[in-house]
Amino acid sequence: MGSSWKATVLLTWLLAAESVHGLPQSQPIGSVAESILEQTATEPSTAFKTQYPPSNSEARVLIPEASPIYRIALDTEGHPAEPPFPSTNVIRVLDGIADLLSPDNSSANSSLSATSVLPATAPATVASPTDVPSQGASTNLPGPSNDSIANSSLSATSVLPATAPATVASPTDVPSQGASTNLPGPSNDSIANSSLSATSVLPATAPATVASPTNVPSQGASTNLPGPSNDSIANSSLSATSVLPATAPATVASPTDVPSQGASTDLPGPPDDPDSPSDMDDQDVFEPVATNAPPANIKARHDHPVKNLHANTSKPIETNKFYAGLFLGTQTNASFTQPYSLSWSRGQGTLKSYGVGVSHLEAKVLAFGPKNDKLPGRPVEYYINPVGLQHIVLSATELDKKSVLGVEKPRAFSAHAVLKRSASSDQSITFPVVQGMGYITGIYNRLQPLIESGVFFRKVVRAGSPKSGIFKYQVALEDGTHWVLYVTPNDGNDPNLKLVSKSSIRGTHGFSGTIQIAKNPAGKSGEKFYDNSAGVYPVSGHITGSVTGDAGSYSLAWTKAGKHAHRTPLIMFALPHHVESFDDGTAARVTSIHLRSTTKGNATAVIGDSWAMVEPDLPVDMGFAPWSATSGNVHALSPQAKKAIVEVAPYELQQNISEQSNLNSMYYSGKALSKFATLVWTVSQLGGDLHAASDAFKELKTSFARFVNNQQEYPLAYDSVWKGVVSTAGYKGDLNQDFGNTAYNDHHFHYGYFIQAAAIIGSLDSSWLDQNKDWVNMLVRDAGNSVENDPHFPFSRAFDWFNGHSWAKGLFESYDGKDEESTSEDTMFAYAVKMWGRTIGDASMEARGNLMLGIMRRSLDNYFLMRNNNINQPSKFIGNKVTGILFENKVDHTTYFGNSLEFIQGIHMLPLLPNSAYTRTPQFVAEEWEAMFAPNASTPADKVKGGWKGVLFANLALVNPKASWSFFAQHHFDYSWIDGGATRTWYLAYAAALGGL
Ligand SMILES: *[C@@H]1O[C@H](CO)[C@@H](O)[C@H](O)[C@H]1NC(C)=O
Repeated sequence: MGSSWKATVLLTWLLAAESVHGLPQSQPIGSVAESILEQTATEPSTAFKTQYPPSNSEARVLIPEASPIYRIALDTEGHPAEPPFPSTNVIRVLDGIADLLSPDNSSANSSLSATSVLPATAPATVASPTDVPSQGASTNLPGPSNDSIANSSLSATSVLPATAPATVASPTDVPSQGASTNLPGPSNDSIANSSLSATSVLPATAPATVASPTNVPSQGASTNLPGPSNDSIANSSLSATSVLPATAPATVASPTDVPSQGASTDLPGPPDDPDSPSDMDDQDVFEPVATNAPPANIKARHDHPVKNLHANTSKPIETNKFYAGLFLGTQTNASFTQPYSLSWSRGQGTLKSYGVGVSHLEAKVLAFGPKNDKLPGRPVEYYINPVGLQHIVLSATELDKKSVLGVEKPRAFSAHAVLKRSASSDQSITFPVVQGMGYITGIYNRLQPLIESGVFFRKVVRAGSPKSGIFKYQVALEDGTHWVLYVTPNDGNDPNLKLVSKSSIRGTHGFSGTIQIAKNPAGKSGEKFYDNSAGVYPVSGHITGSVTGDAGSYSLAWTKAGKHAHRTPLIMFALPHHVESFDDGTAARVTSIHLRSTTKGNATAVIGDSWAMVEPDLPVDMGFAPWSATSGNVHALSPQAKKAIVEVAPYELQQNISEQSNLNSMYYSGKALSKFATLVWTVSQLGGDLHAASDAFKELKTSFARFVNNQQEYPLAYDSVWKGVVSTAGYKGDLNQDFGNTAYNDHHFHYGYFIQAAAIIGSLDSSWLDQNKDWVNMLVRDAGNSVENDPHFPFSRAFDWFNGHSWAKGLFESYDGKDEESTSEDTMFAYAVKMWGRTIGDASMEARGNLMLGIMRRSLDNYFLMRNNNINQPSKFIGNKVTGILFENKVDHTTYFGNSLEFIQGIHMLPLLPNSAYTRTPQFVAEEWEAMFAPNASTPADKVKGGWKGVLFANLALVNPKASWSFFAQHHFDYSWIDGGATRTWYLAYAAALGGL
């Protein structure tokens, strides 16, 4: 009796659901996609059969007793139980807990207790010390606003619902207990556990080794700027008043006062045709840099502090990619394929499952930080996607604590997670984990499928076969979302899935075949797209790219597998910056299925096995000189500007180049070399003063040779475990040394500075290249290799060609995935690669750098440098103007080294180089200045202290070069305003050039 009644109810419900989820007709559906849809199998309207309530009475009351866990602590890297990850400071943790419990901790939300934040049933790792938000918030930003406190009257139970379903859509402002304790500041915990340590920001040993350039006077040195300059400036014996103002030429050491022996031999004058970009005609951007082994003096080491226990390959391993959670530490952190994230449940969470959980979060479940009252629009300080919600888990009844997860075929755009019943078993589920994949696909080998949900199944409907041999189910979850599930049994038999409880569906014993799931926000028409591509899945991705003239193009293509793969197109999700740059053919295959990504706006499903993206307007002509979109390269400075440069330069040229670059840090050493290379170039090529720069040039080369000879304090080693070139600073027990270089953090930043310096040196002295090219190419190959088959280095370690920018985090386990703070040092790397390619005549490398700059200009504009009309970040976050640190799972308007506004914004400005005017759009720069650094804003640039002041005013040159010039040319200039990685000389030249002054 019941079944026809149920069918009627169900059909009614489906029709209602259709009207709710039906597509707005205004949404363009690509013509190709439409024509594909025509071939879709007939609607299996007679096959609907509800499976809820479960017919199987023995299993219908298995209601999970616990609730999903929202981890909303700010920065939760590093599981303390997992050496060698950063160890825990127990005292600090106890302090943190005391702080949480303290009744006067926060005015309105004192009813929260640690126990309500961390339920008793939570897995042990939830209550890990790193989850405890630090109380060490900066004093620079306001505490929780009254508003956020007012909103925080919600109880902890609404954050951590006792019954999951109703509260999945918890109020967006809920992070109430975070009002004070989650303050994303330079939290002690996050610093201690992050890739940066407080001590590595300002290394204790740095000052001692930094020369005090006696001619560089200073006072009031900044203590904030990450650069070796602080103490060197502070130690200087000269006061600011002895600075010879640009306007007082008579007292300035004239060029003739500068020792000039040997000047004529070394430095060439400015060439007649200074910028000679290679002519690009269908130039492949992915030709090999080199294939030889690293130089012999880079010793191999086989004892990397982070063991590779789970990635099964003898090839170089991607250390900074989206799936590192599969092989690092507990192996339970998410891989962010976008829009989905996947993680091995490993007996944790609500379900205690041993399967792989799939999560897709709607905007309404985001947790937001407190508002920043100082900024216009009072933006929230951070947003975070709750971790631990398991919408669907693909598992098997046989999996248990003996089950093991291994990683096979780790590559640039994919890896395969293989979940075995036990280490020795061949019963397994293989998950191809591919960026952008349209379904989560589990390839089962002789296991009984167990499909679970931590937010509970509301309805599961058997929905026929879209194609022969493929069995479809419609799944509605209690959070109101709709999913489709496809089963493709190897034997073609009905898989007979049964809903056995609110949280589990079971198949038959010994199942072999694929199970695929996808979330469908687009009703019937969305379902047609999913039906059409069901049964196939991508197994790996590949990129190609070329540059012709100033137009770049690149293509992502996927190898696929599955039933009828040869005649079934893939469905893949693209990020906003992809869609924006699709060529016409690809744009025609865009569907109306949109699912939000975790931190990059809506992803859009696209039909087909490849996408082609176009980047017009690459900065191919950009060279070493100041550059802008309107003026191009500016080589000719006015006599006034030249004079100022020649007057100011001697003070900076006489700094001790050798000592400033001889540090225990690749980062700081590279910055120093880059700074002096830029200075030498500016004085000789823009100032036209070869004499003045000659000695510095020699010393620069000598200083650079220290690194090529591998004689710096912490020499480089070739790590044969993960395969790459690392600093040895982290081999002594503290992986945070040198910003985590040894564990592959920040290589593009660190090595980018060396590469940029080398590009300049080699351009001024081509004879230098013979001895140094291999070493510099080694750095390029380590941080940004161009090929997948180099036995020594992985492809493109830092730059993620899918996400359109680099990830700085290396082998550090993280709840929130990879992250990147400094977008400007990311673009610096691309610029360095471009210019090094030009210097050594590697047109492919030059083209690659140009293309990376083009892609980054677009991705930064979409996600990181937020103009007021940004649509991809939450509207209440956009007022921050920059992301701060963008993780795969959260975005936090802060830095790893402090929370002052000028740090947060400034680390997206420095170093100011020719590419800055390309990657930081004038509109963005103007909006940011107005909102933050203008005289009437919260942090007037005039009042900022130390080297950040110089950074801000150099950045001002992008929109107001005249004001920038006035600042740097002012009387009584205080050299503490110049950070250790920059020079007043270059800043003057930069402002003069951009302003035509
Ligand atoms: C993202 O997708 C959702 C759902 O389709 C839509 O409501 C929203 O407007 C989209 N946002 C953007 C920026 O396109």
